[in-house]
Amino acid sequence: MVVVIDGKAKAASVTDAVRDAAERLENETGKKPGLAVVIVGDDPASHAYVNSKSKMAKQCGFNSVQHTLPEETTQQELATLVATLNADASIHGILVQLPLPKHLDSDPIIQSILPEKDVDGLSVLNAGKLAVGDLKTGLLSCTPAGAMLLVRSIHGDDLSGLNAVVIGRSNLFGKPMGQLLLNANATVTMAHSRTRDLASVCKSADILVAAVGRAQMVKADWVKPGATVIDVGINRIPAPEKGEGKSRLVGDVAFEEASAVAAAITPVPGGVGPMTIAMLMANTVIAAHRALGKDAPTF
Ligand code: GUN
Repeated sequence: MVVVIDGKAKAASVTDAVRDAAERLENETGKKPGLAVVIVGDDPASHAYVNSKSKMAKQCGFNSVQHTLPEETTQQELATLVATLNADASIHGILVQLPLPKHLDSDPIIQSILPEKDVDGLSVLNAGKLAVGDLKTGLLSCTPAGAMLLVRSIHGDDLSGLNAVVIGRSNLFGKPMGQLLLNANATVTMAHSRTRDLASVCKSADILVAAVGRAQMVKADWVKPGATVIDVGINRIPAPEKGEGKSRLVGDVAFEEASAVAAAITPVPGGVGPMTIAMLMANTVIAAHRALGKDAPTF
């Protein structure tokens, strides 16, 4: 019987630990962890994500600040806001929701966030620390860090001897995920849209991580019997069975058929998704501890 990995439950245990750590920090220093989330424009999916991030930050006892900027915001206005947040001692974490509207250049904005406040783990310094195997002093990208906790819930901390395949090579997910798996001693293949015979590459994986953004692309015959499958995709597809004009969320993996082959699999929704927000809270409480000269908790 396949194990359906419960990301919601794991995320709740992380946010419980974050809330406790935030409370202890406030008792010791009189300061709350501060998280600023910046969103530009009107994309409804981005607004939904950002609202849940801000809400969870409040639930964790943080000082939660949301900056909602209009679509026509200029590069300079956004850069000025980041500079203000960098200089604000009550803010320990800054997240600029991506993607930004097309007329804005996201890279200089993301790289202008102070690395110690970069709770997305996207700065060159934080990405570089992960690349050289320093998992202690930087901040890790939230979705891969969360996916890794789910992998560890199945396989433990040491992945020696296991083959891991990551499909997708983005800076936000694929690259850091590959580094985390490698750091845990897995033998890692980074697959992507130019990989030849993707299906057979995937079939070699004891741990298969899919982050391609294509609904239900990974089929049962891509999955090695007994594998652990981590589905990072969130795709909205039409669901006429629920009524006219209705839709539903699916991952990058064809869940039903893959479940018949895998030993463990994450569902969509309720798998990796809730872990991303939980790890954002974890990064913020870690950043706040460091800024206030306290030993940071680990997750
Ligand atoms: N858009 C989708 N996922 C993310 C994320 O993890 N961080 C940011 N900043 N934007 C996103």
